[in-house]
Amino acid sequence: MADKVNAGASDFVRIKSGIPGLDQMMEGGFPFPSTILVAGSAGTGKTTFALQFLMQGARDGEQGLYFTTLSEPTQWMMRFASRLEFINKDFLGKEVKYVELGNYLRDEKDPRKLIDFMEEHITEVMPQRIVVDPITVIEELIGGNYRTFLYELATRLKNWQAVSVLTGEVLPDQPYPVQVSYITDTVILLSYGLSPEGGRRKYLEILKMRGTGHTTGRHLFDVSRNGVSVQAGLR
Ligand SMILES: Nc1ncnc2c1ncn2[C@@H]1O[C@H](COP(=O)(O)OP(=O)(O)OP(=O)(O)O)[C@@H](O)[C@H]1O
Ligand SMILES: [Mg+2]
Repeated sequence: MADKVNAGASDFVRIKSGIPGLDQMMEGGFPFPSTILVAGSAGTGKTTFALQFLMQGARDGEQGLYFTTLSEPTQWMMRFASRLEFINKDFLGKEVKYVELGNYLRDEKDPRKLIDFMEEHITEVMPQRIVVDPITVIEELIGGNYRTFLYELATRLKNWQAVSVLTGEVLPDQPYPVQVSYITDTVILLSYGLSPEGGRRKYLEILKMRGTGHTTGRHLFDVSRNGVSVQAGLR
């Protein structure tokens, strides 16, 4: 793997997030291996963040695996991706592989079988970067088995030598999906807020990050065709 950063004070190997402005807020990158929750309400930029993370890995010679829990055909994904400048289509289907869980989940509600299904793909692809987007939909699809699913996932994630980004959908009045936050090392919140001048802005906050000194508080960020970028220091 190229460009691993060995940050001075900590012993963690780190990989670049792929989000301009973010790595300098967290000692150079995400600890490898670790699990990240990226939470936010509709349209805050979770999918864009996750795709940038995978594209960065592909550029660094890593393998990425994107699980979507929505029943979106690959065509939809390609169309979404084609609107974003940072997507290199040459990586899609190769360094960045795409697996739909939505259709599988329609028939199979057993959390262990779902994770076995994910693990089959992980064993085949051996990714250094994994995305589950959005993980919170699984709660609606498997109902009462969700706690078991998260517990089992937490156990397996430790074996999947990778950095995993789980995206979490929340309602505007809920800061983050609490159950998912317990199984992750890092929680990043994307939210809407009002700027001091009264305009609607987007904010990124690193809520927790195990073993890492990180910035606190909300930082302005932008989403555009170039992806998510953080303006560290601006609140
Ligand atoms: N091509 C683009 N050009 C400009 N802005 C874009 C483009 N694509 C996305 N955006 C902006 O990025 C925002 C976030 O998109 P994204 O799909 O990543 O959010 P999300 O948090 O995954 O949303 P959802 O909860 O609906 O899945 C959009 O609401 C839009 O404002
Ligand atoms: Mg999304």
